[in-house]
Amino acid sequence: MLHNDVFEELMNEEELARTVAEIAAKINADYEDKELVVIGVLKGSAIFVADLLRKITVDGVQLDFMQASSYGSSSVSSGQVRIVKDVSCNIKERHVLVVEDILDTGNTLSVIKEHLLSKGAASVRICTLFDKPGRRKKPVTADYTGKVIDDLFIVGYGLDYSERYRNLPYVGVLKSEIYS
Ligand code: IMP
Ligand code: MG
Repeated sequence: MLHNDVFEELMNEEELARTVAEIAAKINADYEDKELVVIGVLKGSAIFVADLLRKITVDGVQLDFMQASSYGSSSVSSGQVRIVKDVSCNIKERHVLVVEDILDTGNTLSVIKEHLLSKGAASVRICTLFDKPGRRKKPVTADYTGKVIDDLFIVGYGLDYSERYRNLPYVGVLKSEIYS
């Protein structure tokens, strides 16, 4: 049974698990024998990164978190992004993989990527569960993508609208009357 505020399901639990496993297989092949630090972007990626990390077999992989906040309403990100929580482990000369729930305008990830490179990371790649390329404002591309979607507002599996719906075990399209 779908939540009453959800218009339709976009990815069910089984599809999510399959998508996570497919992404992890690529990461495992690309980072074998490398010093990898996985950085989850709070809060939206919390559930995705927890599932993804358990499928990563790169020996010695580290996990850290960052949080960025953008000014503006909760469904529209503004251009100004600030880092409210920085990484706590040393990323100098390490290979960093930033894990996001969704790549939208690209404002958040362009700031995060630049910041991590300025701290001396050997490389910075982006892994996103969802991508809305139609809304991009910054030239950011993901290296690992779960699913490319149209300009829809989605919730569940960590993704929120106004801090709600993160607990849904599937990803669904939010009814437009909820946010308009
Ligand atoms: P960007 O900086 O515009 O790329 O925005 C990225 C952030 O906006 C994501 O990490 C999400 O928190 C939020 N966001 C963008 N689109 C959606 C959506 O469809 N559902 C939930 N959150 C979204
Ligand atoms: Mg969010």
